[in-house]
Amino acid sequence: MTRIIEKRLSLHKTLKKQQQNNDTLKFQISQLQALANIGTTTCMIAHEINNLLTPLGNYAELALSNLDDKILVEKALRKTVRNCRQAGKIMDSMLAVANGETEEKMNSKLSVLVDDIFTCLCRDFSKDRITVNIQIPPDLTIWAVPVQIQQVLMNLILNARDAMLPKGGVLTIKAHQTEQTVQIEISDTGCGIPPNDLKNIFEPFFTTKADKKSANETSGCGLGLTFCKKVVDVHNGSIKVESMPGRGTVFQLSIPKFSEEDPA
Ligand SMILES: Nc1ncnc2c1ncn2[C@@H]1O[C@H](COP(=O)(O)OP(=O)(O)OP(=O)(O)O)[C@@H](O)[C@H]1O
Ligand SMILES: [Mg+2]
Repeated sequence: MTRIIEKRLSLHKTLKKQQQNNDTLKFQISQLQALANIGTTTCMIAHEINNLLTPLGNYAELALSNLDDKILVEKALRKTVRNCRQAGKIMDSMLAVANGETEEKMNSKLSVLVDDIFTCLCRDFSKDRITVNIQIPPDLTIWAVPVQIQQVLMNLILNARDAMLPKGGVLTIKAHQTEQTVQIEISDTGCGIPPNDLKNIFEPFFTTKADKKSANETSGCGLGLTFCKKVVDVHNGSIKVESMPGRGTVFQLSIPKFSEEDPA
């Protein structure tokens, strides 16, 4: 009898110790998750700022080697001011997302947001044999944090461009509204995505562009679509993709016109 009681006591002791270990591990995991979140957010901010700085740097270089061309130099300076402001907005906006703050959404004209993206990108798509076909009703508005939605669209546009290099092709941006949502479709006639990759493309750091070295190919870090998914989730929307290898890819965004928690 005494032996049984002793055994029970010892089991209780072991159990208590295991529970303490468990609690410590759970605490460490939650701390590591918080750190991983900060890491991913920092990478995403750097990624978005890089999206703005790379084309700007190229444009500034072009202006520097043509200093007599006053129009070009003025354009480069205007773009510098614009993209720097946009970079500041992105920083504030992403930090707010990371801190779990909800930023103020507003109604913005989608066609204006899209035009702005092409201004930020600096390089004319026709230089890469890409025809841009925009079909957005001029009055269509979207209820969103403008800078965040712009970066989402910019990432999808940049991916579409990468997929069509060096051959060229057609980039189509369409939008329409339903009773509850704004639907945006970005399609390209590029290389497409192999079925095996489709399940991974929204994962952080998944990229098929890591080792591209030739002049026409860009290297990637696999954060563009992770960023898109995060922003779309914050907007209570959805992002879907359909792709045919060798034929092209379509990304469909659905953004609610109003969220229940938003003030009317
Ligand atoms: N329109 C597209 N056509 C073909 N493949 C695409 C397209 N969009 C995304 N992908 C695939 O999904 C992967 C992940 O895209 P994502 O934008 O997250 O990263 P990335 O473009 O590789 O790098 P970056 O961090 O610079 O955006 C790409 O590497 C590519 O393989
Ligand atoms: Mg990308």
